[in-house]
Amino acid sequence: MLPIMKVSLLQFLGFLLLSWLIHCHAWARYKFVVKETPYTRLCSTKPILTVNGQFPGPTLHVNKGETIIVDVYNQAKDNITIHWHGVKQPKYPWTDGPEFITQCPIRPGGKFSQKIIFSTEEGTLWWHAHSDWSRATVHGAIVVYPKNGTSYPFPKPYAEVPIILGEWWKQDIMQLLDTFLKTGGDPNTSDAYTINGQPGDLYPCSKSDTFKLMVDHGKTYLLRMINAAMSDILFFSIANHQLTVVGTDASYTKPFKTDYITISPGQTMDVLLEANQPLGQYYMAARVFSSSNLVAYDNTTTTAIVHYNGNYTSPPPPPSFPQNLPYYNDTNASSTYARGLRSLDSPDHSINVPLNMSTKLIFTISVNAIPCANDSCAGPNGSRFAASMNNISFVNPSIDILQAYYNHINGVYEDRFPNVPPLIFNFTADYLPLELETPQKGTEVKVLEYNSTVELVLQGTNLVAGTEHPMHLHGYSFYVVGWGSGNFDKDKDPLGYNLVDPPLQNTIAVPRNGWAAIRFKADNPGVWLMHCHLERHLSWGMDMAFIVKNGKNPEEKLLPPPPDMPSCY
Ligand code: C2O
Ligand code: CU
Repeated sequence: MLPIMKVSLLQFLGFLLLSWLIHCHAWARYKFVVKETPYTRLCSTKPILTVNGQFPGPTLHVNKGETIIVDVYNQAKDNITIHWHGVKQPKYPWTDGPEFITQCPIRPGGKFSQKIIFSTEEGTLWWHAHSDWSRATVHGAIVVYPKNGTSYPFPKPYAEVPIILGEWWKQDIMQLLDTFLKTGGDPNTSDAYTINGQPGDLYPCSKSDTFKLMVDHGKTYLLRMINAAMSDILFFSIANHQLTVVGTDASYTKPFKTDYITISPGQTMDVLLEANQPLGQYYMAARVFSSSNLVAYDNTTTTAIVHYNGNYTSPPPPPSFPQNLPYYNDTNASSTYARGLRSLDSPDHSINVPLNMSTKLIFTISVNAIPCANDSCAGPNGSRFAASMNNISFVNPSIDILQAYYNHINGVYEDRFPNVPPLIFNFTADYLPLELETPQKGTEVKVLEYNSTVELVLQGTNLVAGTEHPMHLHGYSFYVVGWGSGNFDKDKDPLGYNLVDPPLQNTIAVPRNGWAAIRFKADNPGVWLMHCHLERHLSWGMDMAFIVKNGKNPEEKLLPPPPDMPSCY
């Protein structure tokens, strides 16, 4: 017998214990303290919720496939949950974060150790609060590097910079939320957009509140762009510079050059910036894209400055403004950009688009209006705003769905979410009968068999006010195989699908009065929220949850919950 086989049982057990210890201790640990911190913007100071006092919050750095632990301490006076947007958390929805979907909130004074399990993601993601509107200030970047020993599918950039687009209200966020939910009207539009927490010098009192990116001529920078804004899709560009998009939602794309990008709340874009212009200063700028003239938006522009390092003999002239930043209602610019996004699909980063679909779903996504007594609400014609998917306006339960599912607690949710719209009408007609505007209310989930191949068509409607909806799915990335305007035609539209190199995303902006078709394989058991990433639409009920069942094999089943799940009582 070979000597290597001569190991006693005791030695073997010791070895097991040791490797277990090494394994557990290899998990990097981060501490997130959620607390109120005063911040001054636009000439006024208010306390905001932050993580570790920072706005935006700390950046998490991991390698592909790693697991980390974040110890979240709630030292604020409101409940909180934290979500890791775009991290699939295989078989482990317990620490995914959406309030009343996978957990109850962390109460003031409470703590929750969240395990974050990375798998196939590589690129840029982000984390944010997922309870009420706290995510306005409680968010930060997640950088997922290639595995050790592998590299980017593009020349290694000289430096990398998260660029987080956000939104700022002078008003207290909780007050804002209370008010519009009480009155039934629209939330007040924001007072500024921000780049890395700074509005930029086009706003009052903001000269020093301007983010500066210092660059060396001849070098290439990787901008890890995140739209963390609450209410709007944004255009972004940099004066005199082209951008090369190389990834979105932590998945690589075929590199494409563009003068601007379009980025929805929830989305991330990895963009290369080549510092190839003469010494000087150049604005980067972002403003809203909104094709609807019925929806109010903040029409201000946030800026930051790209500053070339060098010997200036005289002070540099003021930065120039990007001439290529599209105008607010430039639908063309938005769709041209979306068409540019295609999966890289190289040998090292191959894709796997499901071709034989076992489950076909169509969900309408609508803004709604619910009549109020004496037309006393602040929504359209005295009604109250609502929103729905397949005409169901989602009502949060008071015990999370995951716990109810796992522990077989009855009466928390129903599993009758419809596969297709309950009522077929011309969804995108210019004028629609008023009675169609009122949705049902409910806590309905759609149950999916393990490994089913799902095609989901998201169909926008023109009820109340048609607009774009950036729809986000937890626990998965999906292939965006097609999109278009008007009503989805199940016979014609699939003929135009891109099944060759569709982008792999976790958030898709469904065009105004149009549709988008996504495909995924339901191979991640758990409870997974799907919702519009425009915060007001989520607050109004534009969300639903999938329950993906366990597979047959032991490694295809939900993992047990951690011992410190926040209590619901
Ligand atoms: Cu970015 Cu449900 O989240
Ligand atoms: Cu929406």
